[in-house]
Amino acid sequence: MTMKIDRRSALLLVGGSLLAGAASSGAAATSKQTKAEKFLWGSAGAAYQIEGGNYASDLWVMEHTKPSIFKDPSGDAVDAYNRVNEDIALAASLGFNTHRFSIEWSRIEPERGRISNAAIAYYRRVLETIRKHGMTPFVTFNHFTTPRWFAAAGGFETRDGIEPFVNYCSLIARELGDLIGIAATFNEPNLGALVSWSPAIRPLRPHIVAARELARTSIGAAKWSPPMLSDFRIQQPIMIEAHNRAYDAIKQASAGRFPVGVTLSLNDERGSAEAIARKQGEVMLPWLAANGDYIGVQNYTYSVVEGESDLPPERGIELTQMGYPFAPEALEGVIRAVARHSNRPIYVTENGVATEDDTRRVAFIDRAVAGVSACLRDGIDVRGYIHWSLLDNWEWVAGFGPKFGLVSVDRTTFVRTAKPSAHHLGRMARRGSPPG
Ligand code: BGC
Repeated sequence: MTMKIDRRSALLLVGGSLLAGAASSGAAATSKQTKAEKFLWGSAGAAYQIEGGNYASDLWVMEHTKPSIFKDPSGDAVDAYNRVNEDIALAASLGFNTHRFSIEWSRIEPERGRISNAAIAYYRRVLETIRKHGMTPFVTFNHFTTPRWFAAAGGFETRDGIEPFVNYCSLIARELGDLIGIAATFNEPNLGALVSWSPAIRPLRPHIVAARELARTSIGAAKWSPPMLSDFRIQQPIMIEAHNRAYDAIKQASAGRFPVGVTLSLNDERGSAEAIARKQGEVMLPWLAANGDYIGVQNYTYSVVEGESDLPPERGIELTQMGYPFAPEALEGVIRAVARHSNRPIYVTENGVATEDDTRRVAFIDRAVAGVSACLRDGIDVRGYIHWSLLDNWEWVAGFGPKFGLVSVDRTTFVRTAKPSAHHLGRMARRGSPPG
């Protein structure tokens, strides 16, 4: 039996958002990045959402315990593991000059301390292919999923999780650093904090706790802390420390060859200045104070915050398949918010919309990119726009329903077909940089 969870709540689950109230500090940035020569245009994906067959990952367990909070198991996902050359060639043919992807830790280290040389070689080929097409590889070291053994050891709900993560990052930087263009340690480690403000998340917490417990007993582990479904109040300070240490380790292992940062999930916050300040103090500021050479901004919508909570979306407005307000202008708002608190360069590392109607995606892109242009005109140092996502893929607890892709994928044959929005964004990319 699968539990019924509406789509908005489904995304809210992602990131694990069990509770509110993180507070932490991070080391100030120590290193500077030289100004990027060109504005980066591209699209993104995450290993677990596209590759398929990531059996050694924590979420694989959660997808197969019954009842599951996941609408569909990821299964073959969109078989990108076997089609990566085709996908990268397609992205390049559209006119993009960067490609963002993530490395699946559970492939690299399926059992603690057991490194798969074949997996390292695989991701080396991915990087080489991106380079061969003249694109800058934008690499996320961790996009939500972790190895089973890591979750069974307490994940990031214990400080014992820091060292294995730092070692993994160091390994990747050492083995693959010669080909990496830009790196992010974590994808959206603040998502749990962000969604804890949503009124929709509260009723779901008992289900998350129950699902975790079921998974734990199903594999006979003493602990079970998949970071995506863990308690962010405990986890966030530990992840900040893990990020800061991973940043140093990556710099050291790669001799500082490429910029390293973190990507953040941010809504354009609306409401009273006081409420916004309180929310940003939990969700954004601790991460802006952490180590980094740039800030990765990821935005899908806005929220209206009142007191200690977001309000539900206003009646009658256009909603996306995720149940969010359709809000391309929100991107400009979050870029400006980040720029008010940080003078680091900004990359838009995710921005997009879940819709079956590709004409709405085209409109979304136009209006979002217009916001980037306005920020650039005002002197904000934005260096790239990376759309989520290249492919229609597996959208976490919401399964294969929501369509974020510039490219559709046949669920049986895995045949890819570029949508008009792919060519639309590609034309912008070809026109050169920066936008506007
Ligand atoms: C995540 C992606 C996800 C996207 C759309 C972001 O929170 O990084 O993995 O698919 O949003 O929901």
